[in-house]
Amino acid sequence: MRILVTGGAGFIGSHIVDRYIAAGHEVAIVDSLWDEGGGKEANVNPKATLYRADITDEAALVQIFDEVRPEVVSHHAAQHSVAVSARDPQLDARVNVLGLLSILQNCTRVGARKVIFAGSGASYGTPEQLPIDEETIQRPESPYGITKMAAEHYLRFWHEAHGLDYTIFRYGNVYGPRQDPNGEAGVISIFAKRFLTRQGVRIDWDGEQRKDYVFVVDVARASVLALEGGDNDVFCIGSGKGTSVNEIYGTLAGISGYEPEITRAPKRPGDIYLSYFSCDKARRVLGWEPSVTFEEGVRATMEFFEQH
Ligand SMILES: NC(=O)c1ccc[n+]([C@@H]2O[C@H](COP(=O)([O-])OP(=O)(O)OC[C@H]3O[C@@H](n4cnc5c(N)ncnc54)[C@H](O)[C@@H]3O)[C@@H](O)[C@H]2O)c1
Repeated sequence: MRILVTGGAGFIGSHIVDRYIAAGHEVAIVDSLWDEGGGKEANVNPKATLYRADITDEAALVQIFDEVRPEVVSHHAAQHSVAVSARDPQLDARVNVLGLLSILQNCTRVGARKVIFAGSGASYGTPEQLPIDEETIQRPESPYGITKMAAEHYLRFWHEAHGLDYTIFRYGNVYGPRQDPNGEAGVISIFAKRFLTRQGVRIDWDGEQRKDYVFVVDVARASVLALEGGDNDVFCIGSGKGTSVNEIYGTLAGISGYEPEITRAPKRPGDIYLSYFSCDKARRVLGWEPSVTFEEGVRATMEFFEQH
């Protein structure tokens, strides 16, 4: 299959590229290697063709789609910082909404069959029920969450109006090798780097806030399954349980044999105390389930940062 992965030089996108190539597909990537994103040339699989371009550059996209003629587009390029989205909502909407629309228009123009989309748990805001599932009301609390939710509606509309299939994955907190340890999210990679370089860590609130951490290789496998299934449907992709920041600290300390000094800080605005997904639908419809335990995933992340 010919597949175009947007954001394929980034953390999640590059793992998806690797899985597609391992499964024998022909893969091209569009990635701008945006300064504020986690994209790196070093992440790019040498068997993929990289087009260094911005998804908001319409002329560039037309040329790329004409050359690649993808059957499936995995759309993972995004402005994904909640802080940037609050500071510059227009930038956020330009990339996450107008960029998506350019992708969709080009898909229709060249006759692509399907788009696989990286949605986000951020589109739920503070969940009204737990576990979060596909039926939970989305009430985003940041411009980023709003554009991720709007994108889902565009995908549904595009299917109804133009027949382009889609699968939406609403990811929990994805972690693993290649995650940018300098970003705002990604507590596991931030901590892993600090444990390895023997620096102290900051724990906000009381550290008992729990989120759903899912290992990137499991996440990438969902995108492989979506090549053959899950058409015109939405799936929550997480571990199905909440893990606290204190537990992350404990796991890293157990693996590294080091207990860095902890600086305490107040709750960050908008932080949620408890959030986790039910992934029953992904299991039932796609046959997807997380296969990597938290300890194994953290160990793999540590090993990656040790080597890089
Ligand atoms: N990491 C998570 O926990 C998480 C959770 C939910 C959803 N997501 C979504 O998954 C996707 C991938 O996120 P990630 O964590 O791998 O981030 P990442 O920053 O590592 O990857 C995103 C990639 O997109 C590229 N990009 C950004 N803006 C672009 C533009 N205008 N044109 C072309 N390329 C551009 C970046 O250069 C980067 O390589 C995003 O859509 C994000 O919103 C991530």
